[in-house]
Amino acid sequence: MKALFLAGGFGNRLRPITNYLPKPMVPVMGKPLLERNIERLKKHCIDEIVLSTCYKPREIKNYFGDGRRWKVKISYISEDTPLGTAGAIKNAERFFNESFLVFNSDIVSDIDISDMIRFHRERGALATIAATRVDNPSDYGVIEHDEEGFITSFKEKPRRHETNSNLINAGVYIFEPQLLNEIPCGKAVSVEHETFPLLLRKGYKLAVYNRCSYWLDLGTPEKYLKVHRDILEGVFQSEDYDFCRNPQFISNTARINPSATIIGPVYIGNNVEIGAFSVIGPNTVLCDSSSVGIGARIEGSVVWDHVHVGNGASIIDSIVMSNCKVDKEIKKSSIIYAGNLSYSIAAVR
Ligand code: GDD
Ligand code: MG
Repeated sequence: MKALFLAGGFGNRLRPITNYLPKPMVPVMGKPLLERNIERLKKHCIDEIVLSTCYKPREIKNYFGDGRRWKVKISYISEDTPLGTAGAIKNAERFFNESFLVFNSDIVSDIDISDMIRFHRERGALATIAATRVDNPSDYGVIEHDEEGFITSFKEKPRRHETNSNLINAGVYIFEPQLLNEIPCGKAVSVEHETFPLLLRKGYKLAVYNRCSYWLDLGTPEKYLKVHRDILEGVFQSEDYDFCRNPQFISNTARINPSATIIGPVYIGNNVEIGAFSVIGPNTVLCDSSSVGIGARIEGSVVWDHVHVGNGASIIDSIVMSNCKVDKEIKKSSIIYAGNLSYSIAAVR
């Protein structure tokens, strides 16, 4: 089965991070989310992938190339102007002549794709939509279904009084190719606002797959910090680190001054240098090749690579992007990004 990633969105709610990177390239534990999702698919023997890009397409293509490094075949489609989620799917029509997977590119989840494919085949539906429960469904596509698990209503970002359901579209679908006949060509169309409601009106069977235990979309800086906290606390098991078993992952190329205090859970990447009397953690990720000065403090934060944290500086509950120098106290919930100065700060909303 082939998989299509919808990777063209502007990621507006994740600015200023997405001023520099398209959302699929935003690193989770130092590795682009899209790379993590491709690796996950490969484990389910999905090795033909189509990336539908629009915003900053070169950043994606330059990184993944033809996919050889991941032992997958990657093809690209790029839109000059956004075609919307359904328009992007229609635009990739030529790649699909049998059931295919579609992913939003900002999803972190433990959905068992092989199980979802089996489920889709058993249900014999035109589409299967993965779903999960959330506290605030009005930010999402809200699903209602009948006793047999077929969808009866799909409302994208409804107001509170418009639905009683807290079951939402998790942004992972399996479609039969006939579904493509229901999307008009060459114009912007939303799969959530237009195609799903249209299919329901026409009486097609859309099945709901509700079996994932961890799910989060990387839509906002708060969620970006949350996914790291969840990995560090072992709530979500990332493929490469088991923080339940070992709450302190410290690369053996890291150099830590013996007088520094490391409080787990913590991740310290390759070639990180940590100065005397500094305190690192808990809930902190320090990616590769960063350095931390004497007496500095970093807590609840994600620090990307090649960052320099000066003597006595502190970074609390914040995100520091690559190549920044931080030389003072960074208040809670900030995003530090490289600008003309040594850093610029944006508040996490
Ligand atoms: N190629 C392309 N072209 N991709 C697009 C376009 C486009 O015009 N617009 C959005 N995308 C991609 C985004 O990059 C993202 O991966 C995915 O489509 C969904 O867009 P978001 O902007 O992230 O949508 P959302 O978070 O508001 O809502 C969607 O995701 C929720 C789950 O996180 C919807 O699918 C909701 O129904 C769902 O609950
Ligand atoms: Mg999203």
